[in-house]
Order: sequence, then C-alpha cells, then structure tokens
Amino acid sequence: MPVQVQGVVARSQGAPVTLETIVVPDPGPGEARVRPLACGVCHTDLHYREGAINDDFPFLLGHEAAGIVESVGPDVTDVAPGDYVILNWRAVCGTCRACLRGRPWYCFSSHNATQKMTLLDGTELSPALGIGAFAEMTLVAAGQCTKVDPAAPPEVAGLLGCGVMAGLGAALNTGNVGRGDTVAVIGCGGVGDAAIAGARLAGARVIVAVDIDDRKLELARKFGATHVVNSRQTDAVEAIREATDGFGADVVIEAIGRPDTYEQAFFARDLAGTVVLVGVPSPDMRLDLPLIEYFGRGGALKSSWYGDCLPSRDFPMLIDLYLQDRLPLQDFVSETIGIGDVEAAFDKMHHGDVLRSVVVFDR
Ligand code: APR
Ligand code: ZN
Ligand code: ZN
Repeated sequence: MPVQVQGVVARSQGAPVTLETIVVPDPGPGEARVRPLACGVCHTDLHYREGAINDDFPFLLGHEAAGIVESVGPDVTDVAPGDYVILNWRAVCGTCRACLRGRPWYCFSSHNATQKMTLLDGTELSPALGIGAFAEMTLVAAGQCTKVDPAAPPEVAGLLGCGVMAGLGAALNTGNVGRGDTVAVIGCGGVGDAAIAGARLAGARVIVAVDIDDRKLELARKFGATHVVNSRQTDAVEAIREATDGFGADVVIEAIGRPDTYEQAFFARDLAGTVVLVGVPSPDMRLDLPLIEYFGRGGALKSSWYGDCLPSRDFPMLIDLYLQDRLPLQDFVSETIGIGDVEAAFDKMHHGDVLRSVVVFDR
C-alpha cells in the first residue's frame, strides 16, 4: 500500500521549504522503501531550492541519510526489511562503460527508483540526488541502500551519504594520500574537515588547513590539521610552502569551489604533486592559469565527485573505523534538529555557523 508521510518540499525557486504530505508508493522491482532515521542538511539541498541545479520543481529535499529498510520490491535480494542502511547516490549499474572497465566509482548510469513519489494532488516530486530523505519514508533503488553496522548512530552514519564521504574520499580515493605525505586543505567546512580527517587516517605527516574563519580553523585542528592558516591575514601559498620545507604539498585539496582558491591550490603543490578539486564551482566560473606551469610542474589535476567513493566498499569500512574510535565522525554533527527546522539550518549553513545540522526523526 502507498503510504502518506510528511516531507520537506521546495515548491518553487527561492521560496522557503515547506512541510508537505507526500505519497510514497509500494516498492516495485529493484526498489526499496526506507524509513530515514536521520538526514544531514547539505549545500546541495539549498542549491536545489535556489533552482541552481535544475528546474524540476517541486523537489523533495534531503540526501545524507541513514535509516531502516521498511519493505523491498520483488527480486530485491541485497537488502531486506529491517536492515540498517546508509543511502547513497551512486548505485552502480554494472553495465555502463565505466563499470565494465572495472571503475564503478565513475558509474555513468547509477540507479534511482523508477516510480515517483508525489504530492497529495498527484504532482510528481523530484527527490534530491534521487534520495529525498527529509521525509518519514522514501523510495529509492535497492542499490542505493548500503548496509552498515547498526552500532553507529544514524545522525553520524548518515553523514557518509554525501559531504563527509566527499571530503574523506577526496583525500583517500582521489588524492591517494599516503603515509608520510604532506597535504593542504583549502576550505574547512564539513567537506574540507573530512579531507583533513582522511589525510590523518592515511598517515599524512603535515596537514595544513586554510580558511578565512578562525572558528573553522580551530575545528580543523581537532580533525588533524598540524598547521592552520587564516588566508585573510596570511598568504596561503607562502604559508603552505613554509610548512612543507619550502616545497609545497604533495596533495592540495580545494574544498570550496572557487577560481581564486583553486589557483592557491595549484601554486601550493610540490612538483609532481596532486590538486584535488572537491568544492563545487558554479557554472559561470572560469580559470586562467599559465599553461607552462601546468606542464612544468607535472603531477595531476583531478576532480573528486562524491569522493570517488564506492559505497559498498567505503561505507561499511568507514563505519568500522568510526566504531573503533579511529575516525571522529561524531564531530561533524554540530546540532540535531527536527524536520521542521531545515530552513533555519540553511541559514546557519549560510553564515558558517555549523559543519552539519542533522535532522533526526522520532523513532
Ligand atoms: N578562502 C578560504 N576559505 C574560504 C574562502 C576563501 N576565499 N571562502 C570560503 N571559505 C571557507 C568557509 O569559511 C568555510 O569554512 O570554506 C568553507 C566552506 O565550507 P562550507 O560552506 O561549510 O561547505 P562544505 O559543506 O564544506 O562544502 C564545501 O564542497 O560539496 C561541495 O557544494 C559543496 O562547494 C561546496 C564545498
Ligand atoms: Zn555503471
Ligand atoms: Zn550533499
């Protein structure tokens, strides 16, 4: 039977989100219905609301979630009702050219639910990143559910579903940070701090955190930064070089998505170093760099989309590390809020007051 639940909907461009009754169909073939227990508030949700992603209003927001599988469609065997899962937006298809070449973290055709959730009047909803988890129930592709150890609380586990995974993966997967590397991270929000935590986990010897907000730099230290730089007061490139014996860092991670900070990242890396862009630029942004420097420095300029993660490989592993006190995922949770507080959380995010606000549902 379809169920009716409350969900956070963005009805039109720029308008504040509203709590609406939504209709969630029974799971069909390849689908699962999931009861979110917690869901983080991410920039991408705000971007949807602002119409910056596409025009497919109304959106059902929320996509950094952990929850319990309520029911599954016919033929679904990987997950079962009662499973504790993190929702992902990379349910690999297994048949696209990336998957067939053994690089499923680039999957070009990842799965979402086929059926649509709707408003009461039948208007089809567009779930954020194919998830839509600011709701008491949501419908996803079964492959979007990754089982993890239920000992991890949902407000913590859900964070791996998007931003924190993006940052961890920028360091661990895309940047391939290894023991003894020097690393710099420009922008220390939730994504940048996760990159710092990832670099520490990988054994980086120097981790330079750069931000323009001292509150953020303090947090960055907690996640493992060995040096902090306020780039309003100090030249970021100079400071990174100073912290790395004058050479620049082996891996520089840009976690903001701006041309000026990307340029800092470009010039702050050592010869043969790697720049990883994990911050998301806006479509109007342009880059102007001396091509000879690109050539002459060697190394690699990479972008990291969702941290090049493979949910089935990375989520359970990272949750295990968290449970062993080796990855402080709990420190990304600045506050837990109710389903009616998403608009206020956007405001706090905008003012840099939080790493993550996380909606927790009544159980
Ligand atoms: N120089 C240095 N730091 C800056 C600058 C700048 N010019 N401008 C902003 N920052 C810092 C902010 O102070 C903040 O700490 O960058 C950080 C950005 O963090 P958040 O706004 O919390 O964003 P976050 O969730 O970490 O995401 C970062 O990754 O996934 C993408 O869409 C996301 O583009 C965004 C980026
Ligand atoms: Zn694929
Ligand atoms: Zn997100």
